[in-house]
Amino acid sequence: MNYEMGWLNYHRGKTEELPNYMGQLYYTEEDTVLLSAIEELKLAAKGMFGCELAVSKDNTVTGDKGIFLKVNKGAGISEEGYRITAKDSFVLIEGSTSRGVLYGTYAFLRRLHKNPDLTGYREEKSPDNPLRMLNHWDNMDGSIERGYSGESFFFQDNEILINSRTKDYARLAASVGINGVVINNVNVKGAATWLITDRYFDKLKSLQDIFKSYGIKLYLSLNFAAPMELGELHTADPLSEEVKAWWQDRIQKVYDSLPDLGGFLIKADSEGRPGPFTYKRTHSEGANMLAAAVRPYGGLIIWRCFVYNCMQDWRDKKTDRARAGYDNFKPLDGSFSENVILQIKNGPMDFQVREPVNSLFGAMEQTNQMLEVQIAQEYTGQQRHVCYLIPAFKEILEYHTGYGEKDTVGEIIGGTASGSRNCGITTVVNTGNDSNWTGHDLAAANFYGFGRLAFDRNLSAEEIGEEWIRATFGGEKKVVDTILEILMMSWPAYEKYTSPLGIGWMVNPNHHFGPNVDGYEYDRWGTYHRADRFGLGVDRSSKGTGYATTYSESNALLYETAESCPEELLLFFHYIEYNYCLKSGKTLIQHIYDTHFEGAKEAEQMAAMWEQLTGYVPEEIHKRVMERLEFQKNHALEWRDVICSYFYRKSGIPDIMKREIY
Ligand code: GCU
Repeated sequence: MNYEMGWLNYHRGKTEELPNYMGQLYYTEEDTVLLSAIEELKLAAKGMFGCELAVSKDNTVTGDKGIFLKVNKGAGISEEGYRITAKDSFVLIEGSTSRGVLYGTYAFLRRLHKNPDLTGYREEKSPDNPLRMLNHWDNMDGSIERGYSGESFFFQDNEILINSRTKDYARLAASVGINGVVINNVNVKGAATWLITDRYFDKLKSLQDIFKSYGIKLYLSLNFAAPMELGELHTADPLSEEVKAWWQDRIQKVYDSLPDLGGFLIKADSEGRPGPFTYKRTHSEGANMLAAAVRPYGGLIIWRCFVYNCMQDWRDKKTDRARAGYDNFKPLDGSFSENVILQIKNGPMDFQVREPVNSLFGAMEQTNQMLEVQIAQEYTGQQRHVCYLIPAFKEILEYHTGYGEKDTVGEIIGGTASGSRNCGITTVVNTGNDSNWTGHDLAAANFYGFGRLAFDRNLSAEEIGEEWIRATFGGEKKVVDTILEILMMSWPAYEKYTSPLGIGWMVNPNHHFGPNVDGYEYDRWGTYHRADRFGLGVDRSSKGTGYATTYSESNALLYETAESCPEELLLFFHYIEYNYCLKSGKTLIQHIYDTHFEGAKEAEQMAAMWEQLTGYVPEEIHKRVMERLEFQKNHALEWRDVICSYFYRKSGIPDIMKREIY
């Protein structure tokens, strides 16, 4: 099994001088998480400085020389927080739990990549989000839904895989602060329905224990119709006594075997998956029934809000997929049990390059909420285009929902607004069994960045990018500057050469790759652009579908008119004529032409910039990335020409720059 360790490689960026604190490592107690921290430090010391750390257990060290890992319950540090203090040749890494110490250890290693001179160094941090999770869409046959990095490293041929990658995956995840992982796809079918039976308990227990030694809880996606699909009942009605009893019994068996399981993730009544609607029950009735069954074990039910009518008639202009989440869930505010969390996609549609923030955030003041983003780049280049999404996630976290005082999405999902601990952030993750884990080497910045942002939402996208580059490729200025510039220009560039001003979609159906303006226009999925010869966009104001009115008063006002609507979302909320004048003074159609030419040019620049790094990054990686950037450059041209030609043909309005449009 051949694979690399990305930002945990500890080779590149080797520093010559051995810092005076490197040599001796002390720790306070035998604990699997602490042992993981020790192992990581040993690896890093060897890789970065060629130093073999001597390790000894010692509770009495007070500070002279060496590194000291200390679980210190009385130090006033939060449960998963850490404190690092450096003095002369002594470094103390403390946490009130061993998990805190592990996070502190990784923070210390990040600091070493930046500057091993620790004079005056002190760092203290508690995670901003109680739950920092990864959702794998891995199927048990080994395929990955929307996976662009090879096959699953958790499953193959309906069996669970456990090998060296399992632990190395846990290291990567823990190093950026992840504390929960759902290993199987939200679309639970076939063998995956059996994950809650003794067919899989042994392997799951091993997996759970590996995760546990890195402070990570295992979660499973659940099939709501399991009582029927496992052949035991004829109904899955959440209010039926036999169904309740069935789940109680099943979940007890699960927890008997997997005592540390975090809980379950459920996609119900969504895209053909079973759910409470079949029995005319509400989502809270469905979720609460399961919540009661997991409560004795401290388990959580994470319930997705991605519920909409996927059998829409494109002729129907009143039904709006964007409204569906709000319409289905808002009336249920206050009716969910305290161990239920609603998992809400960042936007009301589906991980497009630009969407407004989902109007459910903040609107359900009495309900636990969790944000779901997607670093598997389903609609953002499928890891063949570089698209660093951390700047996009920052915008989402900083968005003011307009409800209450602490009203940003970050504050709501972090629990600052409500005081709840059952909340946080998750992502559909972008890993697979490719040797570099993420297909595109630069896509690893999204995995790294997601975790770092989940832990500390105040970090900037640049800071995170720089950390990742230093750990992965070393600290040479040219390398850091060039890669950071590529990362930071990538999301805006992708947005420019694909779909304009928040309208989204325009991709080939099913696989969602490459331009196809009308790909979904006459389909059943509720994803239309409504372009005609006068203009394009969807009227979601109060005169249209009314989605704009589902926001808080201040935001609803903002989105209501084309004049006040943030321009990057203009076509999401309004139907606009091609000759409409934007704030830049350009017409809409000219804006479409210009941004597409600009974006394609930027894709070309990114490839040229990477070319300059020949000899600066390992040859194999350089070659891999070069190939993808060349592909992206050409694919961006395709996007540009398809979109520009489409709108030129629709509108009949020529480009004032007289560029070639087909
Ligand atoms: C998207 C995606 C599906 C996925 C779904 C979900 O629609 O294309 O593959 O199952 O989201 O989030 O459940």
